[in-house]
Amino acid sequence: MYLCNMLKTTLLNAVEAGAMEITRFFNGEFKVSNKEGINNLVTEADHAAEKAIINIIKRDYPGHFILSEESGEHIMDSEYKWIIDPIDGTVNFANGIPICCVSIGLEKSGEMILGAVYNPIMQEMFFAQKGFGASLNDHKISVSSKSEVIKSCLVTGFPYNYLDTKNGPLEVFERFIRKGVPVRRLGSAAIDLCWVAAGRFDGFYEHDLNAWDSAAGYLIVEEAGGMVTDFDGNKYSPYQSKILATNGKIHAEMLDIIHERKQLV
Ligand code: IPD
Ligand code: CA
Ligand code: CA
Repeated sequence: MYLCNMLKTTLLNAVEAGAMEITRFFNGEFKVSNKEGINNLVTEADHAAEKAIINIIKRDYPGHFILSEESGEHIMDSEYKWIIDPIDGTVNFANGIPICCVSIGLEKSGEMILGAVYNPIMQEMFFAQKGFGASLNDHKISVSSKSEVIKSCLVTGFPYNYLDTKNGPLEVFERFIRKGVPVRRLGSAAIDLCWVAAGRFDGFYEHDLNAWDSAAGYLIVEEAGGMVTDFDGNKYSPYQSKILATNGKIHAEMLDIIHERKQLV
């Protein structure tokens, strides 16, 4: 327990340090460059936030493994692995849209044990510890109770490099939209997940995420009482691309719609 409190302190300090960089640059001047794909951006703030986060983790736990979006793997022989997205929602950030955050998950022996997602612009800190529930600004949160997809409010995201596959992002999106189900697109997968955890959305799905997008958020959904799987209903792993996170009650129906086994009526 004592060790877990120390890890939690480091996690929250690291998230705060990254968030300070987001706040410092938000709506100001910063350099922007492109990764693969025209609109897959990285900014000076992503690099500054990542540096601040990694400095804190390395200071407190120099022997831990780190996986971070912009600098990749800092390989160490450790059972602990910090999974970092210094800014999730970079396109929003670069356009002055206040839906962006720092996201950090901590894995121990392959199991996510801590997660924090902080949007400093909206001043919302989401946190979860395995087995101890999830919170927003220190208040316990739980998922919604809607039980039908047709009455649900959903959220999704689209990859920068679109792949036209069967049951791809636009096909699935169309199935919901044609039936009038509201599907939002916030532009930050970590925040999408946290908003499911807080009961603002009933479900979130996305076709092509990386581990740093979902590591913290999926634990936060599970600890808020929700369900997270891949598109086959298997136990979720952040190391594969597809994610379905719901309040649990609409999960099976969402899987059926994604695979076109069921029509929405
Ligand atoms: C992106 C966001 C977005 C999702 C993309 C991610 P980034 O992360 O989470 O919502 O649709 O697939 O790459 O690039 O802002 O860190
Ligand atoms: Ca991301
Ligand atoms: Ca990012």
